[in-house]
Amino acid sequence: MSPPFRIIAGVFALLSATSVLSFPTHGSLAGLSRSELDVIIPTLERRIPDPPPGPLNDTSARLVFDPAHPFIAPKATDIRGPCPGLNTLASHGYLPRNGIATPAQIIEAVQEGFNMGNDLAVFVTYAAFLVDGNLITNLLSIGGKTNETGPDPPAPAIVGGLDTHAVFEGDASTTRGDAFFGDNHSFNETLFDELVSFSNKFGAGSYNLSVAAQFRFQRIQDSIATNPQFSFVSPRFYTAYAESVFPVAFFIDGRQTNGQLDMTVARGFFQTNTFPPNFFRSGVSSGLREIAAGIQEVFVPHPIVPGGNNGAVNSYTPNPNSADFSNFCKLYTDFVNNTVRSLYPTASGALLDALNTNLEFFFGPIALLGCTQVPAFT
Ligand code: HEM
Ligand SMILES: *[C@@H]1O[C@H](CO)[C@@H](O)[C@H](O)[C@H]1NC(C)=O
Ligand SMILES: *[C@@H]1O[C@H](CO)[C@@H](O)[C@H](O)[C@H]1NC(C)=O
Ligand SMILES: *[C@@H]1O[C@H](CO)[C@@H](O)[C@H](O)[C@H]1NC(C)=O
Ligand SMILES: *[C@@H]1O[C@H](CO)[C@@H](O)[C@H](O)[C@H]1NC(C)=O
Ligand SMILES: *[C@@H]1O[C@H](CO)[C@@H](O)[C@H](O)[C@H]1NC(C)=O
Ligand SMILES: *[C@@H]1O[C@H](CO)[C@@H](O)[C@H](O)[C@H]1NC(C)=O
Repeated sequence: MSPPFRIIAGVFALLSATSVLSFPTHGSLAGLSRSELDVIIPTLERRIPDPPPGPLNDTSARLVFDPAHPFIAPKATDIRGPCPGLNTLASHGYLPRNGIATPAQIIEAVQEGFNMGNDLAVFVTYAAFLVDGNLITNLLSIGGKTNETGPDPPAPAIVGGLDTHAVFEGDASTTRGDAFFGDNHSFNETLFDELVSFSNKFGAGSYNLSVAAQFRFQRIQDSIATNPQFSFVSPRFYTAYAESVFPVAFFIDGRQTNGQLDMTVARGFFQTNTFPPNFFRSGVSSGLREIAAGIQEVFVPHPIVPGGNNGAVNSYTPNPNSADFSNFCKLYTDFVNNTVRSLYPTASGALLDALNTNLEFFFGPIALLGCTQVPAFT
């Protein structure tokens, strides 16, 4: 090799060595430029994904806080994020305790630990994985930081995992603040106290779907009044309502069938990410159909159209281009055609293959609803 070439090769080796050190195997490749991808992808070990796991054979209520799944608080290096369901599964060992998992592991864990229905588990997991996961290594982080009090990992700013704002994580969360206020994923005591007072006022001390309807509306009104950048369009429009139903569907002990969530149990899930003692998972497998029924109860008392503030508080403006509950297929189509496509404008080779494979998995539950598949990316 002549000297100039040796220098160029040396610079390249240095660049790749730096990336090996700094680009985590679970870092999202979304939004990276062609030249960044060309440097990073060769440093990653490509893993061909397993197809999504099927439904549970046995969907009965049963003990899930068992001796094989003790609660262990996260170490400083373990990742936790905005989702109390996934955080809890990681802290009980249904997911890897470090908070980094494959989509198949997440689907198995939410089914096993909470009896989430297969169609919903597949849909939510691949939606999150496509925008927040690493499509080459097949890994997704359930948060961005190491744990709620730990430092940010020594990694590029793009490593958001599930904390990444506006693709999956979003505004007007139940117990988490809006990203605009600087922390989009930590448990917020003020918000939880407000949830308790709503449960006292509308649920005789428990969280139920009537409380969910009032509190969901309150959180939206609060963001309209305080967050000039409040955004409430698809997919967040859907996930916000779904997350208001999840505690009723998944956090109530399976031996209890009255739909009333005890607030001490709720605090355990939301704040410390623990199952209550002797917790039985729900005996009802809640999938798309069951959660849609819950959303109906939450939405109808206080309907609102998708939209957002215009840069000023109290400027909520409808966005007629956003999917809403009248058109579920549009949620899917826009998510693929707009959100996912815009994150990977230059995908080719292994990344393009992985994108199309995972888009195919994502479409599985949507196909059953009769929606038309968006053609593979080229
Ligand atoms: C299937 C895979 C799942 C993924 C990818 C996922 C992802 C997420 C994300 C990104 C958020 C934050 C959204 C936001 O508030 O901005 C969230 C919130 C939430 N998730 Fe999950 N989740 C999953 C399963 C579950 C399960 C099984 C449960 C219940 C057992 C659950 C319960 C919740 C709740 C209650 C919230 C709202 C938290 C709050 O606002 O305080 N999720 N999830
Ligand atoms: C469910 O049952 C089928 C048929 O008996 C079996 O092949 C499959 O492995 C079972 N799945 C689980 C998760 O146990
Ligand atoms: C985060 O890790 C630190 C150090 O190990 C620990 O003190 C703290 O309790 C952890 N935070 C959570 C929310 O578990
Ligand atoms: C989400 O919160 C994390 C931790 O506070 C922060 O680093 C990140 O910038 C936030 N994301 C956005 C888009 O605000
Ligand atoms: C928690 O939420 C309240 C109400 O939105 C806000 O005033 C407060 O600053 C938040 N606390 C933290 C620690 O982020
Ligand atoms: C929630 O609890 C209140 C108070 O007990 C009750 O009036 C209401 O019917 C409950 N709603 C649901 C959906 O269980
Ligand atoms: C999605 O994008 C593809 C490719 O650009 C296009 O053919 C299709 O019409 C789009 N679908 C919708 C519903 O926008």
